[in-house]
Amino acid sequence: MSSTSSTWHALAATIAVILSVGLASCTSKPAEEKAAPPAEPPVEKVELPPAPADFPQMNIPEDNPQTPEKIALGHQLFFDARMSVDGSRSCYSCHQNEHGNGGETPLAVGAKEKQLTRHSPVIWNTAYFEAFYWGGRAGSLEAQAKGAWGGGNMGVGKENLDAKTAELAKIKGYKKQFKKVFPEEGMTPDTIAKAISAYERTLICDGTAYDRYAKGDDSALTAQQKQGWVLFMGKGQCAVCHAPPLFSSAMGVPGGLYYNVGIGTAGKAEDQVDVGRSKVSEQDADWGAFKVPSLRNVAKSAPYFHDGSAQTLAGAVKVMATGGIDNKNKTPLLADRGLSEEELASIVAFLGALDCGKLEQPKLPK
Ligand code: HEC
Ligand code: HEC
Repeated sequence: MSSTSSTWHALAATIAVILSVGLASCTSKPAEEKAAPPAEPPVEKVELPPAPADFPQMNIPEDNPQTPEKIALGHQLFFDARMSVDGSRSCYSCHQNEHGNGGETPLAVGAKEKQLTRHSPVIWNTAYFEAFYWGGRAGSLEAQAKGAWGGGNMGVGKENLDAKTAELAKIKGYKKQFKKVFPEEGMTPDTIAKAISAYERTLICDGTAYDRYAKGDDSALTAQQKQGWVLFMGKGQCAVCHAPPLFSSAMGVPGGLYYNVGIGTAGKAEDQVDVGRSKVSEQDADWGAFKVPSLRNVAKSAPYFHDGSAQTLAGAVKVMATGGIDNKNKTPLLADRGLSEEELASIVAFLGALDCGKLEQPKLPK
């Protein structure tokens, strides 16, 4: 862990403790209370935690500045199944509106029906991450796009990206746009990845009910959602990892943060477990740790977790609120928070305040 991330981590933990202590002190009055001046005003309402609205600065690589033409080009490529080895998969195939911008099946199925080992995550706001994939093995969106394209997702094969690019360059509409957007480099695997990444950097989800509330519209959340928000920040200690406004502490933190919460360890021999982050970091401390996913759009993106093992949001929240799944390396930051069924339902309701919009289907070039 870098010092920046441990500082952040300590800060986040402190915030959660302050919030839970703060909330406890305004809900329960000490028994020996005397009428000593200055009198405390009577506390009827639970005070709502402060809601941050401002996103951190997005890191845009110097060699891939955003332009409207490039974004439009990346948008088309993202939706174009001709990118894949057999014409069966576009990027969008596994990051669909119908599934909250994540995948439909618990584990993704790639081109040529190849069974993959992980669930497709929601990619709203993904550009705020410093590293990509559940274990953070890609250091940039550009690298991630080439990985998905050359790997099992689209099935093209790393060694065949040039040949595939030559094939796509026969599509006149692409040829023309690449000439304009990348006049020096033209159409190459790298410029394709750059265009797709530029489009992904526009997938910003910031107009949710939560954001309206955070900007001062008190009516944007229902009473139940407000109770859920208080529990999320306080008793449930969710914000220790899913920190607002992005609802993932791994966002905007150099190196990101990964935790072992036990998903995918139950009933498995140690050598059968997807080790997650430790495969990338080669640190034993990261065994079984995965990226903290953002919870934006989470109500629409079932199934959940890196292995798609929770079918419903209520199920996923329950696993989290009751301390995850025990294993040899579970983080002490997740424990059973003793929430009632009603309280769990409020948290689920609050997460519904993080619903994002939809990706638009572009017209593909001929
Ligand atoms: C067959 C389904 C499938 C296709 C097609 C697919 N993806 Fe994914 N995507 C996944 C899966 C599964 C993961 C997580 C894999 C892992 O962590 O090892 C993922 C992860 C990602 C991530 C990382 C998100 C994060 O927050 O870390 C991004 C970004 C992404 N995909 C974009 C793309 C782009 C761009 C394309 C097209 C070039 C694409 N995907 C094609 C299934 C797919
Ligand atoms: C110690 C850090 C930590 C805390 C605290 C925490 N989470 Fe998580 N959460 C994670 C990690 C890591 C994952 C991904 C686990 C995986 O898939 O292996 C996750 C996944 C989730 C998911 C599934 C999201 C998806 O897209 O698949 C939900 C929902 C969730 N958490 C809700 C909560 C709630 C509600 C709380 C509070 C009761 C909470 N979490 C507390 C770290 C944490």
